[in-house]
Amino acid sequence: MADKQEHWDSVYDARSEDELTWFEATPSISLELVRRYLQPGDALIDIGAGASRLVDALLDEGFGPLAVLDLSDSALAISRQRLGACGDGVDWIEADVTTWQPDREYTVWHDRAVFHFLTDAEGRAAYAQAMSLALRPAGIAIIATFAEDGPEKCSGLPVVRYAPEQLAQELNRLAPDRFEMINSRRHVHITPKGNRQSFQYSVFRKK
Ligand SMILES: C[S@@+](CC[C@H](N)C(=O)[O-])C[C@H]1O[C@@H](n2cnc3c(N)ncnc32)[C@H](O)[C@@H]1O
Repeated sequence: MADKQEHWDSVYDARSEDELTWFEATPSISLELVRRYLQPGDALIDIGAGASRLVDALLDEGFGPLAVLDLSDSALAISRQRLGACGDGVDWIEADVTTWQPDREYTVWHDRAVFHFLTDAEGRAAYAQAMSLALRPAGIAIIATFAEDGPEKCSGLPVVRYAPEQLAQELNRLAPDRFEMINSRRHVHITPKGNRQSFQYSVFRKK
């Protein structure tokens, strides 16, 4: 984890959050999907949340309990500082999702642009195992990755790009018959410099 952590800490230390290619002032698609599947009082975890403002928006809308996980302490510090006392009730977890052991169950697992960094099968298997343990029965996973026509790298690291059906196939290979895809959509993200990045958002229900 040390190398990965150093990489991501240096990314967040070098630039302000609104200069990062994945920055969203309002994470609209994530919010739209979360609102559809989460009720206030149900628990959500944002995996590899970085400095994302999803947690701010969900707190504003009265959702919670909320957990925010990332392997970069620098990223978590940005969100904690931005939220101040409003973030006191959030469970801030500094961990690598591929080695993390959940200690409670969540209704919604949200991941925007993290799974696609797992370029080895072992990492993806560990991710699927953590997701399976963390979600309650019938819990929902929202997984956004670069689509098949998206960039081949992000933040200098190679990624695996997925069409929604490829992601569903991979998840079924990693965790046979544990998740069913119930929704998917495409989205073109515009980076702060105006570049276009193709994403896919897929929604899975734990069986
Ligand atoms: C491209 S950023 C996306 C951040 C956030 N989800 C968003 O949409 O703004 C990827 C994030 O995943 C985190 N990350 C990468 N690999 C991870 C891992 N194995 N476990 C936990 N976090 C990870 C990085 O630190 C970084 O914050």
